[in-house]
Amino acid sequence: MFIFHKIEELKNLTSSLSKGDTIGMVPTMGALHLGHISLVKKAVRENSLTIVSIFVNPTQFNNQEDLKKYPKTLEDDVSLLKSISKDIVVFSPSAKEIYNGNIKSESYNFGKLEKVMEGEFRDGHFDGVGTIVEKLLTIAKPTNAYFGEKDYQQLQIINKLVKIKKIPVNIIGCPIVREANGLAMSSRNERLSSYLRNEASFIYKTLKTAKEKFGTKSATYITDWVTNQFQQNKLFKLEYFTIADTENLQPLKRKSKNKKYRAFIAVYANDIRLIDNISLN
Ligand code: PAF
Repeated sequence: MFIFHKIEELKNLTSSLSKGDTIGMVPTMGALHLGHISLVKKAVRENSLTIVSIFVNPTQFNNQEDLKKYPKTLEDDVSLLKSISKDIVVFSPSAKEIYNGNIKSESYNFGKLEKVMEGEFRDGHFDGVGTIVEKLLTIAKPTNAYFGEKDYQQLQIINKLVKIKKIPVNIIGCPIVREANGLAMSSRNERLSSYLRNEASFIYKTLKTAKEKFGTKSATYITDWVTNQFQQNKLFKLEYFTIADTENLQPLKRKSKNKKYRAFIAVYANDIRLIDNISLN
């Protein structure tokens, strides 16, 4: 397995591939869990070479404390990837290598997609995500790039990014992987105490009940019900719950039979922010 820290090293390898070879890329911020591993395994199955980038991207953090506390576990990540396949290349650059001394986001216009949910509560977050994803896709030139649906809004933003910037890559969204109790896998789960990690099943249970109610109740009714559930729960603080159209992510006003909807949630457990979503129809 190769581990590259320099852009040039990665470019040398990818430019030496034969015509017809495909490159799968899984961009990550490390602290790999089974959610990442499902993306990596899919990329390995579907491509000649898989590149896993591990880079905690400073420009997408609107909260510096969150950036400082983000788990960094490169050695463990590499061992885990080694156990999956020899044909994986790890790209783990420094911030200096990526940003060349200018740690700043580009400014994008993702339209309405960036105005809601994560975009509303994490100022500048999607400019940071767009900046790093554009850089990584431009450096590695993958045929296919894999992203988890836990960050569903990010996935839609990246779909828009590659359209705006005309980047020739297939963006492949992959289903959420959950812990045994239903909690969506996330690197941030590592920061939860075992008690909170167990109790956090409440988030998915609430989403599942919201889904059941979606057949007969309005979005407003369900949102009020979810808000009430969290008001009664002293462990988790609800930041938002929204039922939105899966394409444009705008909040549902009136249900249409031809549209697909998802419920999205962001919750704090102390200072640890957790997000999740569920398809409703
Ligand atoms: O989803 C993530 O881990 C990050 O937002 C990504 C896509 C790797 C960009 O830093």
